Amino acid sequence: MIKHFLQFSDFTLDEFDYVMERSRLIKRKFKNYEPHHTLTDRTLVMVFEKNSTRTRLSFEAGMHQMGGAAIYLNTRDSQLGRGEPVEDAAQVMSRMCDVIMIRTFGQDIIERFAANSRVPVINGLTNEHHPCQVLADVFTFIEQRGSIAGKTVAWIGDANNMLYSWLQAAQVFGFHVNVSTPAGYPIDMSLVAADNQRYTVFAHPSDACVDADLVTTDVWTSMGFEEENAARLKAFDGWIVDAAKMQRAHPDALFMHCLPAHRGEEVAAEVIDGPQSVVWDEAENRLHVQKALLEYLVIGKLT
Ligand code: CP
Ligand code: NVA
Repeated sequence: MIKHFLQFSDFTLDEFDYVMERSRLIKRKFKNYEPHHTLTDRTLVMVFEKNSTRTRLSFEAGMHQMGGAAIYLNTRDSQLGRGEPVEDAAQVMSRMCDVIMIRTFGQDIIERFAANSRVPVINGLTNEHHPCQVLADVFTFIEQRGSIAGKTVAWIGDANNMLYSWLQAAQVFGFHVNVSTPAGYPIDMSLVAADNQRYTVFAHPSDACVDADLVTTDVWTSMGFEEENAARLKAFDGWIVDAAKMQRAHPDALFMHCLPAHRGEEVAAEVIDGPQSVVWDEAENRLHVQKALLEYLVIGKLT
């Protein structure tokens, strides 16, 4: 049975604890310029059907730093853009490499791909999930504040891929998510586990921030939904994370954003560029946690 990371709930708490521990080791070695060549001669194929800066860079640099190689494919330049079935692409790609990362549209596409792959498949973002980002975010929270169990995360903004990965992470790690999305943009209940009691919905974003240990948001218009941008700008008016909202949270609350951000839309410059913001650590930690993730999926637990 091949292990994939297609959504956050694919791993148990034990597996995350292991990956987090490896991430800390890998980060420490990276900072000390110590080699960590656990994936020598291994190859990662990265398939991008949407744009990326952080995801491509962190996976590509990560494989290089572990002694392996990464190959970048996108829809435009590959046969995927000319209608080759994902099932066929998965068969072929997985015979030539050791692990595959995909950024695509519907979750069904990556599920179909994984079902036809001989090697582990990692979700580098779909419309429904962004598990690698939330892995980095939880790692960042723990690094800054210790255990996340029992803490409160305020999600302010769109009901998007990041939110659904946060809701899954809340179940695994035992924290709570206060969610506030504008009217007309509710949580899609088909993407939330029926037994998930780790979240509360608030009509007003300021109320969702009360006593939060972490306030987080994301773009109002995700990739693939660009034609909705004008309507969303109107509907999301009032959902900006600004200093007034941060003041409702704990005085030592952190601010996170997966980036790229739009200052003056979902977040005020005073917050993202302010002292509570850990967005640059969050971005850097993509590198460290994904190296640990790649290592775990390709060679398993190292004793
Ligand atoms: N946060 C994130 O996934 O960034 P990219 O879109 O630049 O990869
Ligand atoms: N929700 C955003 C995240 C980008 C990293 C999107 O899907 O475009």
